[in-house]
Formats: sequence, structure tokens, C-alpha cells
Amino acid sequence: MRISVLGVGAIGTVLATCFAQSADHEVHLHVRGERGARLMLEGLRLSGVQTADVPANRFLFSCNELEMDDHLTHGSDIVILTCKAHAVVDLLATAERFRKPDGLVMALCNGMGHHETLARAFGPPHVLAATTTHGAFSQADGSVMWAGEGQFNLGASPLGPEHHRVLPFLALLEEVGLSPVWCDDAAAMVWAKVLLNLAINPIAALAGLQNGELLQPDRLASCMMVYREVAMLAALERISIPDEAVFEQQLRQVLLATAENTCSMLQDIKAGRVTEIESLNQAVVDLAEHHGLAVPVNQILATLIRACHP
Ligand code: PAF
Repeated sequence: MRISVLGVGAIGTVLATCFAQSADHEVHLHVRGERGARLMLEGLRLSGVQTADVPANRFLFSCNELEMDDHLTHGSDIVILTCKAHAVVDLLATAERFRKPDGLVMALCNGMGHHETLARAFGPPHVLAATTTHGAFSQADGSVMWAGEGQFNLGASPLGPEHHRVLPFLALLEEVGLSPVWCDDAAAMVWAKVLLNLAINPIAALAGLQNGELLQPDRLASCMMVYREVAMLAALERISIPDEAVFEQQLRQVLLATAENTCSMLQDIKAGRVTEIESLNQAVVDLAEHHGLAVPVNQILATLIRACHP
């Protein structure tokens, strides 16, 4: 099997170094910029949950800024987008170029709507929904810290790939320690993860707080206000999400487990990067508008976050 990983940031590095352990498979990395050039020369380094120092020659590389080798064209059985939410659309043509005609594609990115975007581009039978609770961050020396062991959740829509096509990939994820979990309800799986980002990221980012500091009662109450609006939207969309008490419990657990973390949206703002707000709270606002539902808390969070970045 050949697996393509498009975007080798923190989560992309965790996946790539894990896949590289399995000698039976080719691992192709699509990189860009200065960091990408360094990875092509020096390989990938991972510490934390697993430690690995994988030389560059273990991988097949392509680079956004260079012409692509023809031998990579339509050669990948699995294509995984591990990029920022706003880069998914830009990478569709690249993913199509690498994917075998019957290859599977998935996006392991924060936010809503990626599964639908991929299904429109490649056709539902070739697309999986994916989320992860593995936690990782890039370090100053270019290596990646796999800080929290989680799961790699996969699911398909009713028109999605037949399960037998996914089995070899599930077996690989298991073999290399990425803890796959198959979810029958793909939409519920994606919303369960997105709910946490909707409730945590903009509030932590605007307040400039580490995740654990949101456990203070007034701040937690603000996170739950976001949840309540999204719960009304989920009901209109007929998507099953955790009820309020269960969600509050999950939220507390994530905030505790990631207490020292600066959430990705605050990291983006501090670094002057575009945030993922359009695929998070702004996506809630847009979807709510179709139903004539007012979601003022999400709307004001989206507006204020946009005011913080270019
Ligand atoms: O986006 C993030 O930072 C993470 O998904 C989460 C769960 C909020 C932890 O920081």
C-alpha cells in the first residue's frame, strides 16, 4: 500500500513516522516551504508517546514549490490531508493527482465540512470522515512532540466506501499504534470533535488563556453557551451529539488533559497566521442561517477572532 500524507506539521509527522515503522508500505510526504525542504534533507524526528528518528530516504517526497515526479501520479491507495482547515480546498487537485483511481481520501483537520468538500471532489465512495484525539506540537528544533495518546477515528457516510476497502488501512493504523476506532455515524463523530474546538478555541484565543484556565466557572459557562447554540443547530441538522451533561464532562476532561496547552487558534493568532474560525464558529453561523436560526454567541466569537488576524 502507498499512503500519501499531505501537510507534515505536528499530526502529519506523528502519522508519517508511525507509518514508516511498517516496512511493507510506501510513505509519501507532500511538503512545502522551508520546513518542507528541511524534512526532505533531514527526515522526521518524533518524541513523546513514541520516539523515532526516521531518515529522509525512508520516504517518497514531493514539494509544493517543485515540479512533481511522474511516478507519484495516481499511485496512492490512501491520501490523508493533515493541513490547516483553510488549505483543504487548495490541496484537492494535488490529492487527486496522487490518488489511485480507487484510492481513499480523508482530511484530518479541525472544523466542519471537510468530508462534504472531499465527497464533492472525489465522490462519496472514495471518501472517509476522520478525526483524531492524538495531541502533538512542533518544537523549535523542527522535531515534533507527540504529547497525548488518543485515537484515530474513522467513519463513512451511507454512500461511502464499502467497509472491506477500509480494512487494510484500519489494520495498518492498529499495527503502528495509532489506535483506530471505526464509527458507524460519521457525522456524529465529526461533530463530537468539532464541538470541543468550537467551545474552547475562540474563547481561549480571545482571552489569551491556556486551556486549563477555561475551567474557571464563568469561563466554562461561556464555553457551554457556545455548546447550547450548536446543540440547537445539530437538532435541526438531525445530527446526534452528546447531551449537555455529557458534553460538559467531556469538555472538563479535555481542558484538564490539555491544561498547559495553548490551543491551536491562539497559536495561530500569536504567530500572525490566518485562524481556522471559518471552518469552526463561522461555519456554525453559516449553517444556522440556512435554518433561520440565530447563533449570536458563535457570531460574535467569529467576528472578534477575525479582527485578531489578517
Ligand atoms: O485545536 C486545538 O488546540 C485542540 O484541538 C484542542 C482539543 C482544543 C486542545 O488544545
